[in-house]
This record gives sequence, C-alpha cells and structure tokens, in this order.
Amino acid sequence: LFISFISSVTPKLIRYTSILSPSIQTKNVAVLGASGGIGQPLSLLLKLSPLINNLSLYDIQHTKGVGVDLSHIETQVKVKAYVGKEQLSDALKDMDLVLIPAGVPRKPGMTRDDLFITNATIVANLVSACAKNCSQAILAIITNPINSTVPIATEIMKAYNVYNEKKIIGVTTLDVIRAATFVAEAKGLDSLRVFVPVIGGHSGNTIIPLLSQISPPVSFSQQELDSLTSRIQNAGTEVVEAKAGTGSATLSMAHAGARFSFSILDALNGKTGIIDCGYVASQETEFKYFATPLLLGRNGVETSIGVGKLSEYETKLIEKAKPELNANIQKGIDFAKQYL
Ligand code: NAI
Repeated sequence: LFISFISSVTPKLIRYTSILSPSIQTKNVAVLGASGGIGQPLSLLLKLSPLINNLSLYDIQHTKGVGVDLSHIETQVKVKAYVGKEQLSDALKDMDLVLIPAGVPRKPGMTRDDLFITNATIVANLVSACAKNCSQAILAIITNPINSTVPIATEIMKAYNVYNEKKIIGVTTLDVIRAATFVAEAKGLDSLRVFVPVIGGHSGNTIIPLLSQISPPVSFSQQELDSLTSRIQNAGTEVVEAKAGTGSATLSMAHAGARFSFSILDALNGKTGIIDCGYVASQETEFKYFATPLLLGRNGVETSIGVGKLSEYETKLIEKAKPELNANIQKGIDFAKQYL
C-alpha cells in the first residue's frame, strides 16, 4: 500500500496560474506571523495562487505595510492586514486554513528546543484564538520546536472541546524538499521527480529520511547513506550558520509552506491522491506524534500512509531519535497543562 501510494506521487511543481477549473472553490487562508522572515515571502506566494479567495495577514507588527504592498499585485486574491491582539479574532473569521510561522528563529549555536519558552507561549495564544474563532480550520504549525508546538496546539484545542485530529499538522515539508534536492544533486536526477519520505520529528536526529524508499528507487553506498542522512538532518543548521545570526531558513521555508498549503487546498477541493509528509498525532507508531506521509482529503488528514518497510539503518535511526522525540512531545504536553 505504502509503495503504491508513494509511487503515485506526482512531481510537486507549484502551479501559479490564473486558469482554474470551474469546480474549484477558492478558500480563505490566514498567515499568523505574516510580517516575519517566513511570513512575508509565504504571503507573497499565497497571493499568487488561484486556489485562494481571501488572504488574511496577522502579526503583532508591520502587517499594514506588508498588506498594502501585496495588494498591488494583480491577482484575484483579496488581502487584508490585521495588527495587534485586538484584531486577531477578525483575522481568523471564516478561515479554512491557518498557517502559523509566528515566533523567534534560531541563531548559531541554538537548537530548536532553545526556542521553546518564547515560541510555546506564542503558539498557545494563537491556537487559543483559533479555537474560539475558526475551530473548523486546518492549523498548519510552522513555529519551532515543531516536535513540541504541535502537541501544545492539540492540548489547547482539546481544552476548548474543538479538537479534530485531522486538522492539526506540523509542517515538515522543508525536510522533504531538502531531501529531494540533496539526493537529486548527489545522483544527477531531476529533483522535481524525486520523492523522499521523511518521517519522525523536525529537529536534528529526529528527522529521519527514508532513503530506502525513494521514488524512483535509488541505491546508495553506506558512506553516501551516512553523509546524505546527516546533511538532511542538519540542513537547517547549515542555513542558520550561513546567515550568521540573522535568522534561519525563510525563503526555502516559504516555498515549503506554500507547497504544503497548495496540497491542503487541492485536497479540500476534492482532488484525490494528494500525499505530503506532516507531523501529526500518531495512532500507528509507538510515538504520540510522528511525521509520516499523509493522505490528504476534504477534511484534512484522511489517513497516515505509515512508514513502510524500514531498512535496518532506518530502524536504528528511529531508536536513536526516541529519547529526544519523546522528551520534546512530553515537554509540549506539560507546557500546555500549565498554560491552561
Ligand atoms: P521572524 O522573527 O523573522 O518572524 C517571526 C514573526 O512572528 C515576526 O514578524 C514577529 O513579529 C511575529 N510574531 C511574534 N510573536 C507573535 C504573535 N504573538 N502573534 C503573531 N505574530 C507574532 O522569524 P522567521 O524566520 O519567520 O521564523 C518563524 C518561526 O518559524 C521560527 O519559530 C522558526 O524556528 C520557524 N521555522 C520553521 C521551519 C519549519 O521547517 N517548520 C523552518 C524555518 C523556521
């Protein structure tokens, strides 16, 4: 089942076009943290999409300027900007999809977990507002540490009695596009036609690329396996170090966030066979939360495709990731209990 789903994945070319099938219903999308390094280019890419009707930009600062700037682009997407807590509920009304890239990014030497205190509170506040104002919307969490912020979002939605496991997803698409790019580079392939499932979590060792399950199949020496796995796991740090204190991945993350949004919007519109990886509450693994390829549908996550047949190498990677991933998850759950 896993293999047949994965091999049916079509090249992930982002479509920015004004030609729309009449059956497509445009949707309402909000970006919370819209003035940030990720928020601005992500909002730009969303403004170019024919799948979107209203684009709601929210931040605690600078959204008015971002909104006016984007509103001059000649696409049909209607942009509205909201700034400050008192405008948050208006920003969320009638949203189908809420993307959350609000929070502080890493500086050199920091782990994603070092962002916990600041970002956990931001995510908890924003998700509480979503629970009150757009509880039916799909929540796509970008804010790190994802391993913990997704459990926080879940606990908050549960506390408001509006939890729907199909609708909270941690965005791990950046790991998937990095894996495809690095594998294609190493093997001289067309990266748009390479799909590497990436499972686990979204930090260092917890990022587990399944190099034994690439579509189309590719084989590696042990040395290649080690170096590619390590590069994919540490690709975020590669960017943080190159940016030398000015932030983490923003442009590639904006692309990843837009790509993930278009998968969600296509699926909400009834397009079948849409598969993307994401970090979600997990039924079929031993972890409470785990990233796997997901089949998306009209209600969000239809089902997890699972992890397929793992190589011995990948099984060991999961074993190694276990303590960190479990600790990150528990930290999120404990924070939410205290917050609520
Ligand atoms: P940034 O600092 O450039 O932007 C963050 C934005 O969030 C700022 O505009 C800030 O005003 C806003 N913000 C802060 N508190 C807020 C609140 N309570 N409500 C609304 N907006 C608020 O940071 P950047 O580079 O855009 O990164 C954002 C987050 O995304 C970080 O946590 C970073 O670690 C994470 N990230 C996640 C990735 C992933 O693969 N999921 C990849 C790269 C970054």
